[in-house]
Amino acid sequence: ALRDPTDFGAAIRTIPDYPKPGILFRDITTLLADPASFSAAVDALVAGHRDDRVDLVAGIEARGFILGGALAHQLSAGFVPIRKKGKLPHDTVRIAYSLEYGVDEMEMHRDAVRPGQRVLLTDDLIATGGTAEGAVRLLRELGAEIVAACFVIDLPDLGGRRKLEAMGVEVRTLVAFEGH
Ligand code: PRP
Ligand code: MG
Repeated sequence: ALRDPTDFGAAIRTIPDYPKPGILFRDITTLLADPASFSAAVDALVAGHRDDRVDLVAGIEARGFILGGALAHQLSAGFVPIRKKGKLPHDTVRIAYSLEYGVDEMEMHRDAVRPGQRVLLTDDLIATGGTAEGAVRLLRELGAEIVAACFVIDLPDLGGRRKLEAMGVEVRTLVAFEGH
């Protein structure tokens, strides 16, 4: 029988003990490779934003790029990358963000967003929210109006969604996995 393409949880592969013992890795490559699932996921992520006058979709390196390009096309918006440090060639704004262990830095081109532009932020997954929080701060530093942040996967026990909502960002996710 054909799987319901909106059963996103069924399209995501779970790998136990990756990248280390005790971690359940939620692998979206199986969802992306399935035409009906990928299409349904993109449709669900843009739903409700078609009338929001989104100027730009901002995608977080690396997995957020895959979704971001598709969302931008669906919304007839531009796409801007939020990259790990040292990858962008022009003048940048940079911010440190917290990871599970330690910190890293992400960057955007300083001219990627003009003040007041309406931006939809996307990534594959929100866990602790450290990555998305950094992205929100960078976008706001450039004067972006953040329409919403959308993710395929929410790991609600790690609190990222609440963190973004506490910053005044509307959050949309397609499937939640309890535990880590
Ligand atoms: C993963 C995932 C999110 C982030 C979520 O990316 O793709 O971007 O972690 O975690 P957080 O909510 O706790 O910040 P990762 O840093 O592994 O890099 P990648 O997308 O380049 O593989
Ligand atoms: Mg990532």
